Amino acid sequence: MNLPKIHSITKKILVALVGAFLLVFLLFHATANLFVLRHDDGAWYSAFCHFMGTNYVVKIFEIVLLGVFVLHMLLTLWLVVTNRMARPTRYHEAQKSKTHTTSKLMAWTGALIFAFLVMHFCQFYFVKIGWVKGQYMVETAKLQDPEMLQMLQLSQQYGLTPEEMIDEMEAQAAMYTDENDDAEETAQYIASMRDKLEVMNIVQRAYEEGNFSQDQKWIRHLNYDERQTLRRVMPESKPEPDFYFMVRELFHNPLMVLLYLITFVVLFMHMRHAFPSAFQTLGLNNYKYNRAIEICGTVYAWLICLMFAAVPVLVYLGL
Ligand code: HEM
Repeated sequence: MNLPKIHSITKKILVALVGAFLLVFLLFHATANLFVLRHDDGAWYSAFCHFMGTNYVVKIFEIVLLGVFVLHMLLTLWLVVTNRMARPTRYHEAQKSKTHTTSKLMAWTGALIFAFLVMHFCQFYFVKIGWVKGQYMVETAKLQDPEMLQMLQLSQQYGLTPEEMIDEMEAQAAMYTDENDDAEETAQYIASMRDKLEVMNIVQRAYEEGNFSQDQKWIRHLNYDERQTLRRVMPESKPEPDFYFMVRELFHNPLMVLLYLITFVVLFMHMRHAFPSAFQTLGLNNYKYNRAIEICGTVYAWLICLMFAAVPVLVYLGL
C-alpha cells in the first residue's frame, strides 16, 4: 500500500495538537452538561442548546470539531499502519516496554471511544441534524400567529375542535355567499386556516396536556411528525431537539447509565496518557517537570470524567 509520505513526527505533532483541542472541548462539554442537573425544567440547558444550535460561529466550530475528531482518528490509524509497515515481521517475543503497552492501550481505548461516539451521535447529534428521530420543542413566541390564536380562542369558546370550527365557518360562508361582499377574502382566510390546522392541533394538544415549560417559553414533547409539520407549515418557528428531556429520559435506563460510566473509565485511561504524551510530542516536557505534567494529566482526566459521570448518576438517582 502506498501511503503519502509525511514524516512520522509531523503526524505525531498533528495528533497531539488535535488531541489538545479535543481535551479543551471535553472540559467545555462536561461543564455545559452540568446544567442538566439544575431543577429548572431545563431553562438553562435549553437556553444553552438553543444558543449552540442557532449561533453561526458555533455551527462553524461544530463542523471544525467533527473534522478534528475524524482527523485525530485517521492520523492515529495512519501512524499505526505506517509503523507496522516499517516493521513487517513481528518480533518473536512480545515487547514488554512501557511505551509499547501504552500505545497499545491508546489504540484500544481510542477504538472504544469511537464506538461510544457512534452511539452518542445516534442519541443526540443526529437528532439535531434530522437523521434520527427524537423529542422536540418549539419557542412559544414563534407560534404567536394572531389569526391562528384567534381561531383557537373561537374554537374553545364554542367547544369545538379547530377543524370543526373551520368546517362551521366554511358552511356559514357558503350559506351567505350571495350576501357576502368579502367572499373571496373569507375563502382565502379559511384556506390559510386549513393550512395552519395541523399547527393548531399541536398547540391545542400542548394546552390539553400542559406541555409547556415552567417559564412558558417552550412547547415541549413534540414528536418527529410534529417537528416536520412545523418545519413545513411555519418554517420560521424552527423547532429544536429537546435535549434536556432526552438526556434525563436516557439516564432513567440503568443500562445506558452503565454504558456511559464504562465509557468514562475508558476515556479516563485515554486522557491520562494523552495529556503527558501531547506535552512530550510538542517538546514542552522537561525532565524537571515530567512528574508535574503527569499529575496535571491525571487530575484533568479525573475532573472531566467526574463531571461527566455526575449527570447519569445523579439523574438516575433522581437528585
Ligand atoms: C454525561 C455525558 C454526556 C452527555 C449528557 C452528553 C450530551 C450531549 C448532547 C445533548 C449533545 C448534543 C448537543 C448539541 O448538539 O447541541 C452532545 C453532542 C456531542 N457530544 Fe456529548 N454528552 C456526554 C458525553 C460525551 C463524551 C464523553 C464525548 C466524547 C468522548 C462527547 C462528545 C460529543 C460530541 C463530539 C458532540 C457533537 C458536537 C456538539 O454538538 O457539541 N459527549 N452531547
